[in-house]
Amino acid sequence: MFSTPLLRWGSLFPVAAVALAVALRLQSPADTSEPHSARYCYKHIRTHDKTRPRAECFSVQDGKFGRVWTEDQWPAEFPDIETTDGYVIPGLWDGHGHLLQYGQFLHSVDLFGSKSLADVRRRVKAYRETNPKAGKRRHWIRGVGWDQAAFGRMPTAADLKEDPLLDGLYIMLDRIDVHCTWVSQAVLDLLPDDPRDLPGGEIIREPGMGVFCDNAMKLVVDKWPKPTDGDKAKAVKAAMAKLNEVGLVGMHDAGSTRDEHKLYAWMADRDREDWTVRVYAMLECDKRNTFCSRRAKVEREDDMFTVRSVKLFADGALGSWGSAMLEPYSDHNWTSGSLLINASDLTAVTKEWAEAGYQVNIHAIGDLANRNAIDAFEAALKQQCPDAARPEALAACQHQRRFRIEHSQIIHPTDQRRMRTLGIIPSIQPTHATSDMKYALARLGPERTAKEAYRMHSLLDVGPGPILGSDFPVEPPNPFHGIYAAVTRKSPATGLGLNGSAEGWHAEEALTLDAALWGFTGAAAYGAFLEGRAGVIQEGAFADWVVLDEPIEDMDIEQLRSLRVRETWVAGKIVYPKGED
Ligand SMILES: *[C@@H]1O[C@H](CO)[C@@H](O)[C@H](O)[C@H]1NC(C)=O
Ligand SMILES: *[C@@H]1O[C@H](CO)[C@@H](O)[C@H](O)[C@H]1NC(C)=O
Ligand SMILES: *[C@@H]1O[C@H](CO)[C@@H](O)[C@H](O)[C@H]1NC(C)=O
Ligand SMILES: [Zn+2]
Repeated sequence: MFSTPLLRWGSLFPVAAVALAVALRLQSPADTSEPHSARYCYKHIRTHDKTRPRAECFSVQDGKFGRVWTEDQWPAEFPDIETTDGYVIPGLWDGHGHLLQYGQFLHSVDLFGSKSLADVRRRVKAYRETNPKAGKRRHWIRGVGWDQAAFGRMPTAADLKEDPLLDGLYIMLDRIDVHCTWVSQAVLDLLPDDPRDLPGGEIIREPGMGVFCDNAMKLVVDKWPKPTDGDKAKAVKAAMAKLNEVGLVGMHDAGSTRDEHKLYAWMADRDREDWTVRVYAMLECDKRNTFCSRRAKVEREDDMFTVRSVKLFADGALGSWGSAMLEPYSDHNWTSGSLLINASDLTAVTKEWAEAGYQVNIHAIGDLANRNAIDAFEAALKQQCPDAARPEALAACQHQRRFRIEHSQIIHPTDQRRMRTLGIIPSIQPTHATSDMKYALARLGPERTAKEAYRMHSLLDVGPGPILGSDFPVEPPNPFHGIYAAVTRKSPATGLGLNGSAEGWHAEEALTLDAALWGFTGAAAYGAFLEGRAGVIQEGAFADWVVLDEPIEDMDIEQLRSLRVRETWVAGKIVYPKGED
């Protein structure tokens, strides 16, 4: 691209003006080989480029990396450039998060780690004190993060009403996995007296009304006064600022609607100063698990926002016994969970999307859901491939399509092998393993826990290796916490394994630091068709990088729990801390 820099100069990059300013400041008058390029040198640069794994300097032009040098390759004609104190890694990507929901979470009641019903009530009241307008019919109090394990039973509307300060308020609180929501009596009063169960959903009736799971959540969500585009834009900006703060330069938005995409496209154009995270969005139809492609793809020259994939949902979550299992749960042996869509319908809709040229990403937690997802992908690949009889042809076809399983949480050993043969990409959240470890054994029993659950190391040779993420706001977005969980299989919040143990949980499934970092860079890039352009510091890639105070390779792994990034750069522009250039 350096052969035509001036042609591209007038192009759409939001950073052009700033890049120019930086360039003029740093450009050496003697250097005419790279007009308008800025050069940066650090103590050490980790590139993730196999041909040059480490470097000391790079140049940036038009929001992309130009040349990358090691000290000994220093071109003689360049004068010395001052080295900035700091250690660089490629900008990090979260392979599975929820942008708008995270922004909304930042404006809602944080119920993560709530220890009792009284604790929940206390937190809601504290929120209301700072948000006195919340709780009205047109402006409900929203929260997320509760887990009935802390209460000893499912919560009810009456549990909220018990406090006179909460009585009469419109409250809607999502479970930690956002697969159930708990509402107040005022919300219940908006529903029919005895709401009917929906397929793929559950209305919890014992010990009382108040909680709606999976497809039944629609009953209350339909009554919730929808935020305006202005509210949403505010939430997205708040989310992006927080993501930059922890070193994220990009994210895979695991399910957003066409309307949300319109807003995002508008923001990526008009709010360039605030649109500081690359978003690779998976389309979610207004009606889940359907085909709704009508010119839904979005591709932009600056790659700040892309849509070319779809999100489908095979099942619910393990915590609420909603994930679909081949065998019954060990601690609820009368059920094996439920599918949100049966196998034949999942295959049919997957084929339809594949035919329309979309990457298909299926949410699958339980081993039945994972099996159905693999069946659906195999059928779609056979349909798409000219030479489907040969397994290599299917794998080559998969390289074009890059079908993914979101979560890939509990997978039968046979299906782990099938994923490997087909190259189906596992998209995994390492902190889910360390959050769920407390009930995984109870739900699954020893056999499934040991052979099927929360695999990471076993899936290293599947496709590009696991794409890693956090599922924010389900878990905090800090990728260094995800890396810590992947490397130690211990909770980044406590630094401990199961039951306060100093050992990691099923440490045989841990990743090396390199593999974990790859999950948040190269693998995430591959899963978004961005290999060579994102998650790597090499010529032509997006100039996205993170500056740390120390080399990550030399850190004590425990340091990752409290690590704070020094700077985050996107498209050659500093985005964290803000306002410094
Ligand atoms: C479920 O577990 C209970 C208690 O362990 C046992 O009595 C019962 O036979 C089990 N039912 C099934 C269907 O396995
Ligand atoms: C799958 O579900 C659809 C409706 O959602 C139904 O029409 C169809 O018969 C089901 N197929 C099987 C094999 O159960
Ligand atoms: C963890 O503690 C729980 C009870 O506190 C116990 O039932 C369980 O067996 C323990 N698990 C392990 C692996 O020690
Ligand atoms: Zn998710």
